[in-house]
Amino acid sequence: MSSSPLRFLGISGSLRKGSLNSAALRAVQGLAPAHVTFEIADISQIPIYNDDVRAAGYPAAVDAFRAQIAAADAVIFATPEYNYSVPGVLKNAIDWASRPPSQPFDGKPVAIMGASPGAIGTARAQYDLRKMMVFLNAFPINKPEIMIGAAATRFNDKLELTDETTRDLLKQMLASLEAWTRKLKG
Ligand code: FNR
Repeated sequence: MSSSPLRFLGISGSLRKGSLNSAALRAVQGLAPAHVTFEIADISQIPIYNDDVRAAGYPAAVDAFRAQIAAADAVIFATPEYNYSVPGVLKNAIDWASRPPSQPFDGKPVAIMGASPGAIGTARAQYDLRKMMVFLNAFPINKPEIMIGAAATRFNDKLELTDETTRDLLKQMLASLEAWTRKLKG
């Protein structure tokens, strides 16, 4: 496989400092090969969606988020599960990004993962996120599925990922997303 440079963008669906999902994204960042630049978006300043606000011009935080997605070769989501779906902050950020012109998820290679203290590690939320990607015409990889259950036991008190099985899965996800991204680029 080519090792020409790629840019991946991580998007966490949690804003809290101790977020397991943001910690999982940082673990991905640490595992990414040298030719993959991996930055993590800050969605904390994105306001609640209002189409009147959009009509008057995108807020700066939204503009920056849309530009980051557009510039990325691929996007990796790490989403918590809130009430069996994605958190409102993530849905809200995706809603802002989804509006015209030049909807930045169109044709974008995507990977979806999630962490929760529960047994099934955000499976229900991930399938809702996958459904959103259908509408936005993004192209998520199917495998490996990364559902980090009992997540608190897999990180140490510095929120570093210590679980080898999960680290291996994240490496597989990076390799799969890279191969998919290169295939779609043609
Ligand atoms: C939760 N949590 C949760 N967990 C789960 O597995 N399924 C669920 O439906 C829910 N629902 C839910 C709703 C709300 C409003 C909150 C605040 C939490 C627990 C959730 O998985 C846990 O707080 C995670 O640690 C959140 O992810 P971060 O912030 O650690 O990334």
